[in-house]
Amino acid sequence: MQLRKRYLIPRLFVFIILATLYVFLNLQNFAYYTNRFWKPVLTCQNSDEEVDLLLKLANQIHTILSSMKIRHWLMYGSIWGARRISRPLPWDNDIDIGFVGEGVFAEMTLSAFFAPFEAAGLKIQNKWTQSGSIVISKPGLWLSVDLFAFYNHRGTMKRRGLESWVFALNYRTYHQFPAWLVEPELPQLKFGFFNISVPKGGIEIMKYLYPYNWWKVVPPNGCEPPH
Ligand SMILES: *[C@@H]1O[C@H](CO)[C@@H](O)[C@H](O)[C@H]1NC(C)=O
Repeated sequence: MQLRKRYLIPRLFVFIILATLYVFLNLQNFAYYTNRFWKPVLTCQNSDEEVDLLLKLANQIHTILSSMKIRHWLMYGSIWGARRISRPLPWDNDIDIGFVGEGVFAEMTLSAFFAPFEAAGLKIQNKWTQSGSIVISKPGLWLSVDLFAFYNHRGTMKRRGLESWVFALNYRTYHQFPAWLVEPELPQLKFGFFNISVPKGGIEIMKYLYPYNWWKVVPPNGCEPPH
């Protein structure tokens, strides 16, 4: 009894430190634009050739998803790109697309879902277990398109995958939003040489994805905002 009491205070102390650290880490935004040392922003301005290739890749994926009748829309920084400059943000390393995880997608196996992308010669990085997402790229292109499945949980769209459990607070803070924002019919915006769906309500969705700076485009450190 005496022994347990003696260790109670240090244990409580360690617990509080770990809990604080967990909450602190969860409240960080780990998006690419935040320019973390383990994934620094490589360039403030992708070349026109790179952006063209990225847009072609995105259009290819958009066409495949449409042919599979999987509802999808631009997500995260790509919404800013479409709204502000009708193309991807110049420093972005990818185009983000959200899609409905229920219905058609839920009824097919992952390999059946991958098949048309593979048939088109695209490279697939399966991050399904980790973060309920799929990264698609082209051989020779460092930029990619990230697909994120979203599921309607009683009116809130949520992601899946281990990360969404381990970093539950982070996912709550940066990766969920009200379902009405992506209910049909979605508005379309020009994105490079094609049109693609975006969430409803203008920049309303940004309040949920970037709660601490949703009203502005935040360039990575050292980069200028696009005009
Ligand atoms: C995109 O939408 C605009 C406005 O609705 C339309 O004028 C234009 O033709 C569309 N472009 C393409 C490539 O479908």
